[in-house]
Amino acid sequence: MDNFNFYSPTEFVFGKGRESECGKYVKKYGGTKVLIHYGGGSVVRSGLLDRVKASLAAENIPFVELGGVQPNPIDTKVYEGIGLCRSEGVNFILAVGGGSVIDSSKAIAVGALYDGDFWDFYDNKAAVEKALPVGTVLTIAAAGSEGSGNTVITKTDGMWKRGAGGDALRPKFSVMNPELTYTLPAYQTACGATDIMAHVLERYFTNTKEVEITDRLCEAVLCTIIKEVPRVLKNPEDYNARANIMWAGTVAHNNVCGVGREQDWNSHGLEHELSGIYDCAHGAGLAVIMPAWMEFVMPHNVMRFAQLAVRVFGTAMNFEAPEETARLGIKAFRKFLHEIGMPVNFAELGAKEEDIPRFAEKFSVTKIGNNGVTGGFVKLTKEDAVTIYKIALNASV
Ligand code: NZQ
Ligand code: ZN
Repeated sequence: MDNFNFYSPTEFVFGKGRESECGKYVKKYGGTKVLIHYGGGSVVRSGLLDRVKASLAAENIPFVELGGVQPNPIDTKVYEGIGLCRSEGVNFILAVGGGSVIDSSKAIAVGALYDGDFWDFYDNKAAVEKALPVGTVLTIAAAGSEGSGNTVITKTDGMWKRGAGGDALRPKFSVMNPELTYTLPAYQTACGATDIMAHVLERYFTNTKEVEITDRLCEAVLCTIIKEVPRVLKNPEDYNARANIMWAGTVAHNNVCGVGREQDWNSHGLEHELSGIYDCAHGAGLAVIMPAWMEFVMPHNVMRFAQLAVRVFGTAMNFEAPEETARLGIKAFRKFLHEIGMPVNFAELGAKEEDIPRFAEKFSVTKIGNNGVTGGFVKLTKEDAVTIYKIALNASV
C-alpha cells in the first residue's frame, strides 16, 4: 500500500426531509448571502426549490438565484454566476441539483475569488487554492461531486470538456435525501449508476499490490449497484434501494475507494470527448467506453480482471484459462449495462465513426500533452485511444 492522505471534510446530512435543514447548515458554515444555483427545472417542478428557499428564509438568510444549468455544464453560465456573486456580495453558493449544477457552482466559487479568467483553472494555468464555500442539495446519485473536490466544465468555444480540482472545492455540507431521486427518469438513474461503477473501476485497476481493504470496498460498492439498480428501475420509490445507491455514489468518488494506490482515469478522459462534443449523458458515454477500455487493457493484468469477474459478477474461475474468466467478467459488465438501458456501442449512443480522429486528437491535447502517454494502470498513446474508440464503435452484448 502506498502512503496517502485522506481528506473528506464534507458534512453529509442524509435522510428523509433533510433539505428543510439546509438553512441551518448554511448558517453553520458562515453563509450570510447565498446564491442558489440550479438546473433546467426539475427542482422547480418537484417543489424542492421552494422548500430550500423556505429553509433559508427561516434562518433569515437572504439569497439570489440562478437557474438554467444544463447537463454537461458550460462556461457561459459560470461567467453569469461569477458576475452575480460579485454584484450581489454573495459569500455562499448552494447547489440544488445533480453533478452538473454542483460543478457549475464550484466553478463559480473558485472564479468569484480570482482576478483572471476562471477557465485558467481548467487549462492548468492556475491552481485551486481558495473558493467561496459551497453546499449541496443532491438530486441524483451519479457524479459524486457532492463529496469530491472536482468540477468538470465545457468551454463552448471548441467544446473542450475539462476538469479542475482542489480541496477548497469540497462542499462544506451535502444534503442527501434519497426521496429526492424518486422523480429521476429510468435513463438518468441508469446513467448515474454507470458513472458510480466507473468511478470505482477507475480506482480498482491499479498496479499497486496488496491493498485488500480498498479492493473490498470497491467490490462492495459495485455489488450494491448491481443489486439495487434493478430494484429502483422496477419500483422508483423503493427508499432503501435509492438510499443505498445514493450513498454508494458518494463513497465511489470521495476517494475512500482509491486511497493507497495509483489510479487510472483514462476511461473518463476518453468519455469526456464524447459528452463534450455530443452533449450526451456522461454515464451513457462511459457505458460505451469503459468496457472497450477494459478489453484493450485486460492482457496487462489478467488476474485482476479475473478477480473482478469472480468477486463481483459471480463468474466461475477457470484456473486453466484465467483470461477466459477475465473476458467473461467484462462481458457480464456490458450485459448489466445493457439490461439497465445503457447504450453499448457508438450507434446506440448516437456517436459517429468519422469523429474518432477528432476525439483522439482532443484526448491527446487534454490528457496526453507532451509526454506521449497518459494513465495509471496502462499508459495510453493517441493511437491506443483510436483503437479503444474503434472497439467501442462495434461493441455488442
Ligand atoms: O437540469 P434538471 O432539470 O435538474 O434535470 C437534470 C438533468 O437533466 C435531471 N435530474 C437531476 N435530478 C433529478 C432530475 N430529474 C428529475 N428528478 C431529479 N431528482 O437529470 C439530468 C442530469 O443531471 P446532471 O446533473 O447532469 O447529472 P450528473 O449528476 O450525472 O452530472 C453529470 C456531470 O457531472 C460530471 C459529468 O462529466 C457531467 O458533466 N462529472 C463530475 C464529476 C465531479 N465533479 O467529481 C465526476 C464525474 O466523473 C463526472 O465527470
Ligand atoms: Zn464520472
